[in-house]
Amino acid sequence: MKIIAGNFKSNLTRRETENFLHTLDSKLESNPLDKDKQVFIFPATSSLVENSHYKHINLGAQNCHCATSGAFTGEVTLKHLEEFHIENILIGHSERRNLFAESEAICVKKFDFFKKHGLRIFYCIGEGKEVREKNETLEFLRKQIFCIDANYENLIFAYEPLWAIGTGLSASISQIRECINYLKSFTNAPIIYGGSVTANNASEIFDIADGVLVGSASLKVEQFYNIILRS
Ligand code: PGA
Repeated sequence: MKIIAGNFKSNLTRRETENFLHTLDSKLESNPLDKDKQVFIFPATSSLVENSHYKHINLGAQNCHCATSGAFTGEVTLKHLEEFHIENILIGHSERRNLFAESEAICVKKFDFFKKHGLRIFYCIGEGKEVREKNETLEFLRKQIFCIDANYENLIFAYEPLWAIGTGLSASISQIRECINYLKSFTNAPIIYGGSVTANNASEIFDIADGVLVGSASLKVEQFYNIILRS
């Protein structure tokens, strides 16, 4: 199985997102992918659209509060995702953890809630620069995955070293391989890699990971399509 996921972060308006999705879906209609390849897009929350409008793309939410609905000013809840038939959620992205103070405890609470509701969870983990420099990466990752039920059947891990996200400096193939092999000894979940993935490094990453989570290189449809073609 190969997963090709794009995280738009806080980019692309609703109109831009719809144009992107329409263009990509048409390309995938003309050149269908093998059945074992799946394309996911995580648009900005206000650009979420009806999932079933697209035949070859599965939409997901970048964030959602762990409740069905209620008094949570500024947040969206499960009900809002269900309206669009969105069944995929990103939890624990490093920008949520670091810029919005989402602790491991919050990530776990979200994981448990969305697991209970059967969503497909993309759970992001990854070490910072200091952890890597101290040679404590594997131990750090092990602790992160043991916070959640690593054998939930609808789980995908996204291994994203913090120092590789948005920096243009992807982890090396041997670094990615070492972490993925290690994680695979604890879980059967697919493990994808994220952090400065582009069409240039995608092929070799697809060789060792179950897929990719792409940030900046997902924002232009041609660029993202080129990454899909490498899968
Ligand atoms: P990047 O982002 O591809 O721009 O490094 C990856 C991510 O944040 O998931």
